[in-house]
Parts: sequence; structure tokens; C-alpha cells
Amino acid sequence: MRIGVLTSGGDAPGMNAAIRAVVRTALSYGDQVFGVYDGYKGLIEGKIQEFDRKDVSEILNRGGTILGTARLPEFAYPQVRELAVKQLKKHDIDSLICIGGDGTYTGALRLTEMGIKCIGIPGTIDNDIASSDFTIGFSTALNTACDAIDKLRDTSSSHQRCSIIEVMGRHCPDLALYSGICCGAEYIITSQTGLDKDQLLKDLKKNRLQGRRHAIVVISENLTDVYQLAKEVEEYSGYECRATILGYIQRGGTPTPEDRLLASRLGSYAIDLIHEDIFGVAVGIMKNSLTYTKLEDALNMTNNRDISLEKMLTKTQ
Ligand code: F6P
Repeated sequence: MRIGVLTSGGDAPGMNAAIRAVVRTALSYGDQVFGVYDGYKGLIEGKIQEFDRKDVSEILNRGGTILGTARLPEFAYPQVRELAVKQLKKHDIDSLICIGGDGTYTGALRLTEMGIKCIGIPGTIDNDIASSDFTIGFSTALNTACDAIDKLRDTSSSHQRCSIIEVMGRHCPDLALYSGICCGAEYIITSQTGLDKDQLLKDLKKNRLQGRRHAIVVISENLTDVYQLAKEVEEYSGYECRATILGYIQRGGTPTPEDRLLASRLGSYAIDLIHEDIFGVAVGIMKNSLTYTKLEDALNMTNNRDISLEKMLTKTQ
């Protein structure tokens, strides 16, 4: 077989481990593998190169993606996708492994409808792909966020300040929820909890009056202007307050063992499925078992996050 592999959308630590697993498993079947550079953008531009074993040496532990990535909103247009199909045909590539998040999956679904055998692998720090319990990159981003929040706690406590920390996740609460729990944040504000500003200000004032030395507020991105919120906290609560946006630091770094393992398992499994003539699906791990879901269903599924996490918060924070 002649199999292509690309990474698309926001990069995520562990993508390289997935590329490596795809390439090495495919070679073990006797397939030819082609790396497509810079996601769907590179695909339509024909940035395609055959890979052998050594092309994926020494990458298992590296963050980012050796293939590069890009966002290409224009891939929504059929005439743009035609260019991709043309390139794949030109290189005689029959199957394509697409590593990324929901935008990547949408592209893979459309290409499948156009006759290309695609398989999606969940690679995003957001953990917002419901067809897998965890996405590649989430564990590493969570570690990075926790490390940063622990450090911010040290300085907040020393100065008796409130620290508002904005984490990524697009519209998914998981990075905020998990990092907030792991770091014992006093408040975790996500798209699910919503931001009740009046209540937050009242609670912080109460904390301050009770003599608590610091308060950690972890908040998901896209909910509010955290610098403005910090000003309001300072005016109302009695705490000095600082806002920190963790930003892109959460996307980089050496992947954790969990991400390396997840990526290796999913990359290898994707190639196994291609050999069983299963395509148009997204691979995942659910309840520690390898699984696959039709791309269309994967895109429409809602996350069955364990709600005991949210419930637990009310008891422990
Ligand atoms: O999807 C990963 C992610 O890092 C989100 O958490 C964030 O909202 C977005 O990508 C940022 O995208 P960009 O790299 O295009 O600025």
C-alpha cells in the first residue's frame, strides 16, 4: 500500500510519536509511507516525501511535529479539496492518516467522501474529541499547566494575592478542570460552570476576610478578559490580583509517557485498520481499549466526561 500521513491544526506534544508509529508499522507491513508537510495546506501544494525508518528516528520524545502543521479554513471548499485529491492521485497514495483535532477530522471526512481512505488520529491538547477518552497532547499540556500553576501559587501565597490563570482548551473545559483539580485551585471556571462574576467577587472577598493568604482561579480561555477581571477582583475583594495567560507554552515540550504511549498505540492501530480495509473512521482509546468510530459520528459525539469530577469539586475546593 502507499499511505500518506499528515498533522494538521494546532500542534500537540506526542504527534511525533504518532507519526513514528504510523511509519514504522506501515513499513513492517511492507507498505510505502509518505510524509505530507504542513497539513492540508502542504497537501494541496504537493509537499510530499517518502519516509523510511530513519526519517522517524529520534522523534518519539520530541514536542511539536516534524511534519509541520497549518490551519486551512479554505479546505471547506470542494475545489480546494480537489487539489488535494489530485496530489494524492499523482503520488498514487490510496490512504491518508490525518492526525489532529476536529478541523482535521472534518477534512478527513470530506476526503473520504471523495474516495480517499482516511483515518483520523486524535492529536490536540484540548481533549475535545469525544471518540477517545484522551487526545494526544492533553497529558503533556496538563503537566505544563500544573507546573505553571504550582509556581504561581508560590508567589501568590508569598504576596497574599489572588492569581487568575487562563488555560487553553478552545471550548473544552478539560484543561481548566483537570489542572484546577490537580493544583487545588479555589475556583475553576469553564464553559460548563460559566462565569458568575458577582458570585466570584463575593466569594473572594469572603476568602480574604477569612484571612486566606491567596486564591487561585483557573479559567478556560474564551470566557472573559482576564486582565479586566483581575482589576475588578482587586477593586472589590481586598486581594491584590494578577492575571496570567499561559498561552502557547501549553502546546510545546517533551511529551509525557502517557502521550507517547497513547500516540504509539493509536498510530500503529490506524495502520492495522487500513490493512483490514477499515477507513473513514477515527481511532481512539476508550476504557483502555483500542476502538474506532466513524468520522461523522466522532464529530457529532458529545463528551461523556466523568461528571464525578465536577461533583467532587464542590466537596474539595
Ligand atoms: O486547538 C489547540 C489550541 O491550542 C486551542 O487550545 C486554542 O484555542 C487554539 O489552538 C489556538 O489556535 P492558533 O494556534 O491557531 O492560535
